[in-house]
Amino acid sequence: MTGSSNLVYVLNGPNLNLLGMREPEIYGSATLDDIAGMLEDRALTLGLEIDMRQTNHEGMLVDWLHEAQAEGARAVLLNAGAYTHTSIALLDAIKAITTPVIEVHLSNPKQREEFRHISYVGMGAAKTVEGFGPDSYIIALEAVANDEI
Ligand code: DQA
Repeated sequence: MTGSSNLVYVLNGPNLNLLGMREPEIYGSATLDDIAGMLEDRALTLGLEIDMRQTNHEGMLVDWLHEAQAEGARAVLLNAGAYTHTSIALLDAIKAITTPVIEVHLSNPKQREEFRHISYVGMGAAKTVEGFGPDSYIIALEAVANDEI
């Protein structure tokens, strides 16, 4: 079963557990729990269910992408943090599953240091939402609800 349920995985990578205190001038003051709360509320009104997780480990993100497919998730929202810019393993995992993945970023990496301009995740993702702070996640969730992926 693929992509037919109302379940949306929201996967967060390294250092995102420190949101709220981490470089607030770039990432803002909302914590990951705050973002989870916002997403839960929006998911309820959109008739979706979210499973939100965070890890600092690249292979865990790979495992969770595989799991999203195995569980028949409708889509994955993926903020892979810095692995976005380095991880061919994540690109391969995204390509290996048929579950659509939306790349999400709080900041706009394209307007930051040059090393953030390449996105391996983006090469496999169906869409990218970046630069809207926590609203990037909400916009991505709405795209799933509206079948815009
Ligand atoms: C980020 C952008 C990445 O470049 C950075 O490494 C992060 C956060 C974002 O959400 O803006 O950890 O993914």
